[in-house]
Amino acid sequence: MSPSQPPLSETPETPEALSETLAACVESLALPQIQRHIFLCADQTKPKCCDKAASIEAWNYLKNRLKTLKLDIPTAERPACVFRTKANCLRVCQQGPIMVIYPDGVWYHSATPDVIEQIIQSHLINNQIVEDYAFLQHPLPNPKN
Ligand code: FES
Repeated sequence: MSPSQPPLSETPETPEALSETLAACVESLALPQIQRHIFLCADQTKPKCCDKAASIEAWNYLKNRLKTLKLDIPTAERPACVFRTKANCLRVCQQGPIMVIYPDGVWYHSATPDVIEQIIQSHLINNQIVEDYAFLQHPLPNPKN
């Protein structure tokens, strides 16, 4: 829970107050500025794709690097940001940690800190997929088409 969100016991009960807290959350998380959303299999209930400790190391690396490089927040020079979510399991369950980046729809295997650094530098910053670790490229189709 982010600092701007009240604890559940203090969650306002009126629809107006609730929508205000959601609006504050949307703003504090910069949700409308998200350019890419990364899901990483980490801290699994049943670690299958990799060792649980290795997945947590990968998650912490991803989180810290996005923060250090200021990719996790919009800036004046770059009004877009990268959102990250720790997934319990992405159902691939082999050669992990498994990572997927949307909207590109690029799935990566073996997302260790070294590989995550390559993905950050190449994919996130220079828009070049790291082919050595990408095992699927499937941008989601527009459901309206
Ligand atoms: S446990 Fe990592 S993808 Fe299933």
